[in-house]
Amino acid sequence: MSSRAEFQTTAPGKVILLGEHAVVYGQPALAVPVTSVSVTVTVTPAPDLVIEAPDLALTLTAQDEANHLDHPLFQMVHRVAQRFGHLLPRQRFRITSTIPFASGLGSGAAVSAALGRAAAQALGQRLSDDELNAMVYDIERIHHGTPSGIDNTVIVYQKPVYFIRGQGAVPFEVGVPFTILIADTGQTALTRESVGDVRHLMESAPDRYQPIVQRIGQVVESARAAIALGQHAQLGALMDENHALLDQLTVSSPQLDRLVTAARQAGALGAKLSGGGRGGNMIALVTPDSSAHIADALRHAGAVRVLSTVVSNTTPQGG
Ligand code: PMV
Repeated sequence: MSSRAEFQTTAPGKVILLGEHAVVYGQPALAVPVTSVSVTVTVTPAPDLVIEAPDLALTLTAQDEANHLDHPLFQMVHRVAQRFGHLLPRQRFRITSTIPFASGLGSGAAVSAALGRAAAQALGQRLSDDELNAMVYDIERIHHGTPSGIDNTVIVYQKPVYFIRGQGAVPFEVGVPFTILIADTGQTALTRESVGDVRHLMESAPDRYQPIVQRIGQVVESARAAIALGQHAQLGALMDENHALLDQLTVSSPQLDRLVTAARQAGALGAKLSGGGRGGNMIALVTPDSSAHIADALRHAGAVRVLSTVVSNTTPQGG
């Protein structure tokens, strides 16, 4: 039986701590959910299926199905309906988000995850996290081409993850909780493009770029050990090295470098870009005492928004 009452589903944002880009080539990466930003899908009764995203001025309707069959939002609802052998749900799905678009915080995967959960509930069904994760990954492939799967995994399971492409994710141990600031350059950048450019470098000059990717993998392993032992100074140094390696992969930008430098000068233990790069967000490792001062320095250096999140073995809380 399908649900006729109004209800909402949500999904958090995410941030990659270390290992982006190299993760596409089989190296490990660490990522955490960010609960202070999220996507909400509000489902209300309607005569037929409507999917609307007012922030994007987008409305998809069942009557108009032929025109948007390939649209990722429509595909998500369609796949969930297929899974349960059901016709499309007859409800209105209204998508709102506080996750900035195309900025490395996982907005695409979060929209798919919240919409998939909403579609299942609208049909009176429930998707397991494993099923939802596989579906969101399929939709990510429409957006990105060759995603590693890290975004959908951390957003669907809502846990800090150590992730290797093709092997799935395991939780990582956090010996002593730590605070990360997440600062937005305000510049959107398409992950598909930066991933494509890195692929081109890897194919055209593997002798030069393969060692960089491998070194990122080693940095991630060392960072995982430092996090488990609560060695935050060591973790910060590894974040700095990861940023330098990403810069060599050509995915930093002047704005990202400016914020990274500002954070370090204001006392951050380490700082790096996060996600696809070329814009979007950077992260800085701070102490509770230095957090406000470093956030001010980041704003002063041009950050349009600064979030903070505490990473611990439980789901992180935003601030
Ligand atoms: O830009 P984001 O946060 O969606 O991150 C992409 C992470 C990459 O490693 C660059 C690509 C991927 O699919 O893992």
